[in-house]
Amino acid sequence: METHGRDTAHRSKETRRRIVLFPMPFQGHINPMFQLANILHTQGFKITIVHCQYNSPNHSNYPHFSFRSINDRYSEVEHMSTTNQDVSFYLKYLNRSCADPFRDCLTKLLDEEPVACLISDSMFYFTQTVADDLKLPRMVLRTSSIGCTVAYSVLPWFSKEGCFNLTKQDQDYEALVPEYPILKAKDVLKIAINPQGYGEVVTDMFKQMTTSCGLIWNTFKELEEPELETINKGFPVPSFTLGPFYKYFPASSSSLIEQDRTVLSWLDKLPPKSVIYVSFGSVARIKDVEFQEVAYALENTSLPFLWVVRPGMVLGSEWIESLPEKFVERVGDRGRVVKWCPQAEVLAHPATGCFWTHSGWSSTLESICEGVPMICSPCFVDQPIVARYVSDVWKIGVLLEDGFERVGIEMAIKKIMIGKEGEETRERISRLKEKLNLSLDEGGSSSKSLKSLVDYISSF
Ligand code: UDX
Repeated sequence: METHGRDTAHRSKETRRRIVLFPMPFQGHINPMFQLANILHTQGFKITIVHCQYNSPNHSNYPHFSFRSINDRYSEVEHMSTTNQDVSFYLKYLNRSCADPFRDCLTKLLDEEPVACLISDSMFYFTQTVADDLKLPRMVLRTSSIGCTVAYSVLPWFSKEGCFNLTKQDQDYEALVPEYPILKAKDVLKIAINPQGYGEVVTDMFKQMTTSCGLIWNTFKELEEPELETINKGFPVPSFTLGPFYKYFPASSSSLIEQDRTVLSWLDKLPPKSVIYVSFGSVARIKDVEFQEVAYALENTSLPFLWVVRPGMVLGSEWIESLPEKFVERVGDRGRVVKWCPQAEVLAHPATGCFWTHSGWSSTLESICEGVPMICSPCFVDQPIVARYVSDVWKIGVLLEDGFERVGIEMAIKKIMIGKEGEETRERISRLKEKLNLSLDEGGSSSKSLKSLVDYISSF
């Protein structure tokens, strides 16, 4: 794992003003916000993180930041997540429950010392009004891809017909979506179980992005150039593409779950590019029948595998109770099942051959950074869109078109790990990795974008 910023970027000697950052309290949002905070800290800014009590970060990992915690009251609804899978419900709840405590907290901070700006998660759209009232510039961190954001802007969330409402038997789930023909109807159906509710969240998010001072993206220009052009035309505020943040600071210190580091010595014993790394991220949940299909497929492939099963990931189970009987005994030392791992180091390990992922944006970028081809099993929200880009646009992975079904999974694993198509996919992702590294070099697009962002924030 080669990091970029820490060793090679010039650490600014200038002491700049304070920036207040406010992440959404979920792993896939906390990681990029903390990475961005570290990047801006190396540029001379003082950093204050305002965070929810729910999923509170470990302050001792960041002695160079100051922290304020707010009472988000998320614990009042968290228990509902096993039965209510409507993401929009939780996002709307947080936007309401955090409003007053966040306003109080920010007001106090502004009384203490000058603050250059607020950087908050795009999904915390309520923060724009607070920042406007307090006359503080707000920048938005969008933790997903630009492609996903462009797709979100055209999907017919509120329409009674079209891709969100394929109920009739004669509907074609393979048909391309007219509003965004990279996507198939079946991809869009996965995005949200309550499209109207999620559409309301997306609409509010866009409204507040438009009135913000600027958009910060965890991506690099060469990966999403046409999508960036669309965003630049559609939003009257500047966009900064300085990513992938992972190349400046891997996300391990903001991990909310303890990472099982014993997997690294297990990987050390295995041949190069031989291991299938399987992880479905920090929020996706799967049914126990799907979980069993994954298990059978891994058992049948006879290749080594490292499988992260987050506690609570399988609906109705605490952890791995619904594994097929004697699975662990049968696979023996060929397979490891762990609760959480140091993903960055696993992807960077020479033994890792492919990443079977839920296509979360951080995971996808981390895989590109390490040149590891992907097998995609997207679950919801942005993941079906990211997966389609990985398989059909960038062609750096395969998408499991039929979901979790063992025969299809085994074919995909063979394709990526053994076949000629796998070799070509690996070559394509290696070339993309080279482009990415160039973008971070002095004079490259991400490096220039970081400089512009620092100048922009300093001008407030
Ligand atoms: C979800 C969305 O799908 C994502 O696109 C959005 O931006 C945030 O919410 P999540 O499911 O958390 O994200 O996935 P992802 O964005 O991939 O982030 C997961 C993070 O957890 C990665 O940084 C990964 O390195 C880390 N991780 C994962 C570990 O450290 N250990 C593990 O075992 C698994």
